Amino acid sequence: MRKPIIVGNWKMNKTRDEALQFIYMASSRLPNKDEVESAICAPSVFLRCLVKREGENLKIGAQNMHFAEKGAYTGELSVNMLTDLGVSYVILGHSERRQMFGETSFDVAKKTKAALNHKIVPIVCIGETLEQRESKNTNDVLEEMLSNSLKGIGAEQIANVVIAYEPIWAIGTGKTATAEIANEACKHIRNTLVKLYNSNLANKVRIQYGGSVKPDNIKELMSMEHIDGALVGGASLDAESFLKLFEF
Ligand code: PGA
Repeated sequence: MRKPIIVGNWKMNKTRDEALQFIYMASSRLPNKDEVESAICAPSVFLRCLVKREGENLKIGAQNMHFAEKGAYTGELSVNMLTDLGVSYVILGHSERRQMFGETSFDVAKKTKAALNHKIVPIVCIGETLEQRESKNTNDVLEEMLSNSLKGIGAEQIANVVIAYEPIWAIGTGKTATAEIANEACKHIRNTLVKLYNSNLANKVRIQYGGSVKPDNIKELMSMEHIDGALVGGASLDAESFLKLFEF
């Protein structure tokens, strides 16, 4: 069985004090890590102090990284730097990175490989725009994004990848995909993994849904066959709201 995984994506929010306060409040009240995995992906400047205070049940992740080990990439962070900080997860290819910073699926594939090679769990984000959904291209878009974002990831590593299905029209809009729509897309992602790898491996990969997940809709989403967790933006900023997400 796939272990559920709920991850908060703070994006570019919080001060250092607010971040520490959150971890202090939340980490001791989360369910046991054997039942559900949980992490907060925080702005990079807070990673060091948050990792020091992370608990058994609440791990810390980054929101991006570069694929190169080092070099002339002003403003970027390497996988070595994240390893050095002790982070456990990294979000890769979030739609905000793809749309605002021109990241491609091929960049994401290189980053995914680098993360896996350094034992950081990559959370690889894919998702369609509203236009693509309305023109009935969702499945093709997801298939292409997934296969390109996983280029070069071998069968021996794929089970360690987490996929986040995040329809762009549902992110930060308050417009959650219905559980059925989200499950259909996650099922299609799993079927694509069967084609790329095999059904045994595809059944091991955890697929999260992301896009306006909140305490009041997580239960229904988590009850769906192909949804193994959630990647949560807005509702992960407040500790009480984040904790409620685990009552699914
Ligand atoms: P949201 O963001 O929960 O605020 O919609 C999700 C995300 O961008 O990962």
